[in-house]
Amino acid sequence: MRKKFIAGNWKMYKTTAEAVAFAKAFKRLYADAGADAEAGVCAPFTQLAALKDAFAGSGVKLGAQNVHFEENGAYTGEISAPMLKEIGVDYAIVGHSERREYFAETDETVNKKLHKLYEYNILPILCVGEKLDQRDAGKAETVVKAQVEKDLSGLLPAQIDLLVIAYEPVWAIGTGRTATPEQAQEMCAFIRRTVASLYSAAAADKLRVQYGGSVKPDNAAEILGKADVDGALVGGASLVPEDFIRIVNFSANA
Ligand code: 13P
Repeated sequence: MRKKFIAGNWKMYKTTAEAVAFAKAFKRLYADAGADAEAGVCAPFTQLAALKDAFAGSGVKLGAQNVHFEENGAYTGEISAPMLKEIGVDYAIVGHSERREYFAETDETVNKKLHKLYEYNILPILCVGEKLDQRDAGKAETVVKAQVEKDLSGLLPAQIDLLVIAYEPVWAIGTGRTATPEQAQEMCAFIRRTVASLYSAAAADKLRVQYGGSVKPDNAAEILGKADVDGALVGGASLVPEDFIRIVNFSANA
């Protein structure tokens, strides 16, 4: 049985002082909530060390939002997997559509980043998803399948067991336009079938597939109620502890 995993993606929001204040408040809410799901927060690099301390003992997982694919080197402004490991992060987002769109992330660099993260036992949250014109042209599955195939290239079955894939239709991110629960279920199931055909039914069964794109306290229960939706990657609604806990504890809102 896959435990649902709700991760916040804070993007470029919050100072460290604001992040620590969030962690103090969220820790209390999470402890009281009898949470339905594993919770995590993917924060900007500068906040990670302080958050590691602030979340200590809470069970809240910590994630970065990116990583470089090399071990070290002359890459001004970049952060490596060993640097993240030293802080003790559990997860790193890779291939978010904002990085693909604005920072020239490609399936090739995403693939290299996944390999490097596994070397350091940091678990990837791999983002995939189609743009609106691709969905309108009936190409959503083709686009997502190609991303999954290229991004996972060369990974071992045991690594797939630990993987999280976030299905984030680009047209639903920050737009307030959510995929319907049926659309989320359809694509999450399709991703699982794709992984089953690349690896095995057993690996696909362990894989957790999140949905991301305008998940809010009021729509979380319906989306997370779907069989193949194993969690959510939450942007805007993860910034406020009282909103985020309602998503983590989604069944109370059902
Ligand atoms: P929103 O929840 O703000 O739409 O962002 C989704 C997202 O991009 C999470 O990675």
